[in-house]
Amino acid sequence: GPNTPISHDPFRTVAKEMKFLTKHIRSLLGSGHPALDTVAKYYTQSEGKYVRPMLVLLMSRATALTPKIPREGTMPFGGVDTAFTSPAVLNDENPSAPGTPSLTDLERDVAYTGQDSDILPSQRRLAEITELIHTASLLHDDVIDHSQSRRGSPSANIEFGNKMAVLAGDFLLGRASVALARLRDPEVTELLATVIANLVEGEFMQLKNTAADEKNPVWTEDTVTYYLQKTYLKSASLISKSCRAAAILGGSTSEVVEASYLYGKNLGLAFQLVDDMLDYTVSGEELGKPAGADLELGLATAPLLFAWKDNKGLGRLVGRKFAGEGDVQRAREIVASSTGLEQTRALAQEYVNKAIDAISGFPESEAKTGLIEMCNKVLKRRK
Ligand code: FPP
Ligand code: MG
Ligand code: MG
Repeated sequence: GPNTPISHDPFRTVAKEMKFLTKHIRSLLGSGHPALDTVAKYYTQSEGKYVRPMLVLLMSRATALTPKIPREGTMPFGGVDTAFTSPAVLNDENPSAPGTPSLTDLERDVAYTGQDSDILPSQRRLAEITELIHTASLLHDDVIDHSQSRRGSPSANIEFGNKMAVLAGDFLLGRASVALARLRDPEVTELLATVIANLVEGEFMQLKNTAADEKNPVWTEDTVTYYLQKTYLKSASLISKSCRAAAILGGSTSEVVEASYLYGKNLGLAFQLVDDMLDYTVSGEELGKPAGADLELGLATAPLLFAWKDNKGLGRLVGRKFAGEGDVQRAREIVASSTGLEQTRALAQEYVNKAIDAISGFPESEAKTGLIEMCNKVLKRRK
């Protein structure tokens, strides 16, 4: 009946699309240099969560039904939609360079969804670009964090060494830039280029624990503001600006574009808050990456910042980045006996509510339900 809640798997709404995503990403990463080819594709072998491309595809479908404006300078299908000629080195010495796609873009777009898809080829390309940028940031992040594992396997820095991991990350950004340029949309190009800069800005903010980075920092409201600004830059920028770009490529009105952005921004903040919580609450085995890593890295994330408010003694430990004898263990105990984790979850819930609220004006659809379901998934996730 009309009041029966329908349980939705947001993945199913775009499942057909997702099937082709990894395949095409791998073809975008083809290089005639065998070692580079291997390192660049390394993280595409393990199963990622594909949160960002999934959001782009769902947002594309959900905004397909919203008001549209004629957009100057944007080709209806996101620009040149001829065969993606692989940038792989193809010559006589190397006749079968990896990365040569077996299907042209056009064939693939038809194979994807039949004729009635409401997702534009340009929006599919955008979904791939978001995953490329994200994966590039993981390659660099695992070097910076000296991480040993990612997605249940040795991280790229462990498998191939720091130099190759960093270079492979740069290569991914290069290929992402090529794909972005092919969208022929200057506004979308500017958005995604800004994301790359924001990732670095967020990472730089994280190098310092507090705005002032004093030896004995004092808790103020600014402590949380600084953390949230950093969180926006390192996590929510990519999610929010790619949701925005999806709506722009679909030719949505500025109200819809803004709503898409707000959805992504609030979901992105919630996503990272939960990530910082899981670092305290879930085992490394379940996470597929080291747990409890943040304190070891000297990082004070939301659970600790909230605990600090009620345990002012934590300031000294924050100031020396938990490098003192027994600091990590002590901080862990204080966080565990505080309301830091609860407060982090409550704040994530607040952002999720704002995300859902942002798209409340969108017409009802399976994709909109999927976007709402993604919010609940973010709160419930264990990895
Ligand atoms: C994961 O965070 C890392 C990020 C969200 C962004 C990292 C950004 C950079 C390294 C900047 C430079 C990179 C590029 C490509 C511009 P985390 O370490 O908290 O999460 P984890 O537990 O998954 O490692
Ligand atoms: Mg890390
Ligand atoms: Mg990191």
